[in-house]
Amino acid sequence: MPSSVRFLTVRMFSLLLLLFIHLRACHSSPSIHPLCHDEESHALLQFKQSLVINESASSDPSAYPKVASWKVDGDCCSWDGVECDRDSGHVIGLDLSSSFLYGSINSNSTLFHLVHLGRLNLADNDFNNSEIPSEIRNLPRLFDLNLSQSSFSGQIPEEILQLSKLVSIDLRLNSMKLRKPGLQHLVESLTNLEVLHLSEVDISAKSGSQLETLLLEGTNFSGQLPESIGNLKSLKEFHAAECYFSGAIPSSLGNLTKLNSLDLSYNSFSGKIPSTFVNLLQLTYLSLSSNNFSSGTLHWLCNLTNLNSTIGLSQTNSYGEIPSCLGNLTQLAVLKLGENKLAGQIPESIFRLPNLETLYLHENLFRGTVNVGLLKSKSLVSFQINYNNLSVIGNSNDSVALPKFQILGFEQSVDILPWNNLRYLGLSGNKLEGALPIPPRSTIIYQVSNNRLTGEIPQAICNLTSLVILQLSNNSFSGDIPDAFSSDCTLREIDFSQNQLEGKIPRSLANCTKLEFLNIEKNKITDVFPSWLGIFPKLRVLILRSNRLHGVIGKPRANFEFQRLQIVDLSGPIPRGNQFDTFDRTSFDANPGLCGKPLSRKCGNGEDSLPAAKRDEGSAAYPLEFGWKVVVTGYASGLVIGVILGCVMDTRKYEWLVKNYFARWQR
Ligand SMILES: *[C@@H]1O[C@H](CO)[C@@H](O)[C@H](O)[C@H]1NC(C)=O
Ligand SMILES: *[C@@H]1O[C@H](CO)[C@@H](O)[C@H](O)[C@H]1NC(C)=O
Ligand SMILES: *[C@@H]1O[C@H](CO)[C@@H](O)[C@H](O)[C@H]1NC(C)=O
Ligand SMILES: *[C@@H]1O[C@H](CO)[C@@H](O)[C@H](O)[C@H]1NC(C)=O
Ligand SMILES: *[C@@H]1O[C@H](CO)[C@@H](O)[C@H](O)[C@H]1NC(C)=O
Ligand SMILES: *[C@@H]1O[C@H](CO)[C@@H](O)[C@H](O)[C@H]1NC(C)=O
Ligand SMILES: *[C@@H]1O[C@H](CO)[C@@H](O)[C@H](O)[C@H]1NC(C)=O
Ligand SMILES: *[C@@H]1O[C@H](CO)[C@@H](O)[C@H](O)[C@H]1NC(C)=O
Ligand SMILES: *[C@@H]1O[C@H](CO)[C@@H](O)[C@H](O)[C@H]1NC(C)=O
Ligand SMILES: *[C@@H]1O[C@H](CO)[C@@H](O)[C@H](O)[C@H]1NC(C)=O
Ligand SMILES: *[C@@H]1O[C@H](CO)[C@@H](O)[C@H](O)[C@H]1NC(C)=O
Ligand SMILES: *[C@@H]1O[C@H](CO)[C@@H](O)[C@H](O)[C@H]1NC(C)=O
Repeated sequence: MPSSVRFLTVRMFSLLLLLFIHLRACHSSPSIHPLCHDEESHALLQFKQSLVINESASSDPSAYPKVASWKVDGDCCSWDGVECDRDSGHVIGLDLSSSFLYGSINSNSTLFHLVHLGRLNLADNDFNNSEIPSEIRNLPRLFDLNLSQSSFSGQIPEEILQLSKLVSIDLRLNSMKLRKPGLQHLVESLTNLEVLHLSEVDISAKSGSQLETLLLEGTNFSGQLPESIGNLKSLKEFHAAECYFSGAIPSSLGNLTKLNSLDLSYNSFSGKIPSTFVNLLQLTYLSLSSNNFSSGTLHWLCNLTNLNSTIGLSQTNSYGEIPSCLGNLTQLAVLKLGENKLAGQIPESIFRLPNLETLYLHENLFRGTVNVGLLKSKSLVSFQINYNNLSVIGNSNDSVALPKFQILGFEQSVDILPWNNLRYLGLSGNKLEGALPIPPRSTIIYQVSNNRLTGEIPQAICNLTSLVILQLSNNSFSGDIPDAFSSDCTLREIDFSQNQLEGKIPRSLANCTKLEFLNIEKNKITDVFPSWLGIFPKLRVLILRSNRLHGVIGKPRANFEFQRLQIVDLSGPIPRGNQFDTFDRTSFDANPGLCGKPLSRKCGNGEDSLPAAKRDEGSAAYPLEFGWKVVVTGYASGLVIGVILGCVMDTRKYEWLVKNYFARWQR
């Protein structure tokens, strides 16, 4: 926190203190507030002294050292973070979250002398991997315990079971274990518990009782979900995504009729989705995506008429048709049915859902014709129907000038697709023909790889100033790559590979300074090796092979060129150890005009004559010196990246890529 703000806080605090003293002086009647008890004041000061203030102990930007204002001669009831009972003057609440506290808490900590504490929040500090001492049992009135993100470790002590008043426990983001007691004991003993946050706490056990919220996502919880989960009759919210659960989902889960939010996605559940789910009539959010279910249909969804936010059933081995009743869920924002074996026609009612933000229908067996003109949701953010057997058309009756999609060809206008807020358009792997449809300017990711699009790539594509990923590979585009990338260019990934593109690599690409990935493999580009591409500070992957590149691979002009380049190509055997020669050579495969080290082909007469500027830098001897150190050091991570980018990507990988990979690159 900026010191000025801290100062202000201290000032305000002093002011309040003065006011308080003033009030007390005016009304010296003991009925106002009893002063804080000496032993508690003492305990708090001792606790303060047992720790140090260390600004790296808290991560919240608004953190500040609350204990700094605690003074020996003050009334502890007015101290920052301290709450006293109005009648008894006992300390009943202590909120020292995000207070830069650093140090160990051990069994003789005077914290455990505050026996009247009901609320204890020490979140977002650094207690140096302390274990929670068993003396926690000295705080029997505790009903709200929050130790999230505070570097506690080890086993959660059994004594916590004695704190029967606990209503809320938040132990997120600590490297703690919950083995003995396990979750079952915890939940059975703490019968008042309503909120239990254990994300990233290592737990292993079963369950029971009045629990309303059980959030376990990202934990190492594994094995079968116990049948006894059905005893948690009060459960309203159960999130266990991204754990290691396997086996069948117990059918008793269908007994939890109060559930309104259920997320079991990204586990390894197998067997069928329990038919008892038709009883979960309160569900507004349901995600079961990415599990290992055996195949089943989706008709049970028709019973869940309250689903108003999310249906996530991608990668659930679902087959059959999409039940048209889903078109009745008019509030639905997210419908993810990708990567299944769904077939037949996509019901038109789905497209008419007015509040859709995300619609994933990709990688299924849908047939027939999709009229994208029916998509009317103004909120649409992501729409994926790639990898089906669909023809896509627009609605020519629509008042907006809609595209005559696909077979009919497209009008090439930036406004050609009607959704002004579209951010992600995936149309790869269909049978799109004709010219490239230009998505709205809001588009961030545009995938139309693996179609039958022809003609030139319209210049208008350079006008899409929000575009980050542009995938046009494996079509039949011809002509030159448009040369109108402006200084607004935000592209990070460009894939023009496997087309019939000719001409040069457009020099205006130099405006795309954020470029990290460029693939123009398998075209008919006729150019010299584009060492000018080295000006991209972030370029990591450059794939040029199978073109008509020629000339000498020169050393870049300045050291900063190709700063981050890790992969010049992967041809998808991977070299090991120091065998970079192999790597190098194949990198420029099928560009027969290229020569010079490390290619086996020496430059012949004339060919090794470098431009004067480069010769000046003494690059003639080993023209391919550029960036190899970077290639070597970045190799391990680069490898992973390369393999991933080499695959046909599905939505999840894209989301992952954008979220993790690009985010990481940005740091
Ligand atoms: C501050 O805390 C960090 C860990 O959060 C620790 O690494 C560092 O040594 C501490 N500094 C002092 C002066 O205690
Ligand atoms: C943090 O823990 C380490 C290891 O237990 C210990 O050596 C060190 O003194 C502790 N630091 C503080 C400030 O308590
Ligand atoms: C608390 O215990 C530690 C060892 O566990 C000891 O070093 C320290 O002096 C004790 N502090 C007090 C106040 O008794
Ligand atoms: C625990 O405290 C942190 C930081 O103050 C807060 O973000 C979190 O919501 C709290 N947990 C609960 C369950 O209130
Ligand atoms: C979860 O498991 C992973 C891999 O086994 C391990 O690295 C991680 O530390 C575990 N997390 C916890 C909270 O125990
Ligand atoms: C809970 O679910 C199981 C399995 O579906 C069922 O046999 C049992 O009768 C249900 N119990 C209650 C109390 O509804
Ligand atoms: C998925 O389930 C099948 C049986 O239906 C099993 O053979 C396979 O090992 C499971 N895969 C995973 C990753 O759990
Ligand atoms: C599910 O819906 C069907 C058809 O509307 C109905 O016959 C059935 O009773 C419903 N089941 C439950 C458990 O509500
Ligand atoms: C979904 O329904 C629940 C309960 O019926 C309601 O509280 C919530 O606001 C609704 N959400 C939306 C997005 O309509
Ligand atoms: C939509 O709901 C109405 C009743 O609200 C029902 O009559 C109709 O059959 C439902 N539509 C579909 C496609 O299920
Ligand atoms: C690109 O946008 C500019 C102004 O925004 C416009 O004048 C120009 O015609 C557009 N180019 C294409 C090819 O659409
Ligand atoms: C970069 O874009 C600007 C317009 O924004 C344009 O004038 C310039 O020529 C472009 N650079 C290159 C190398 O084409």
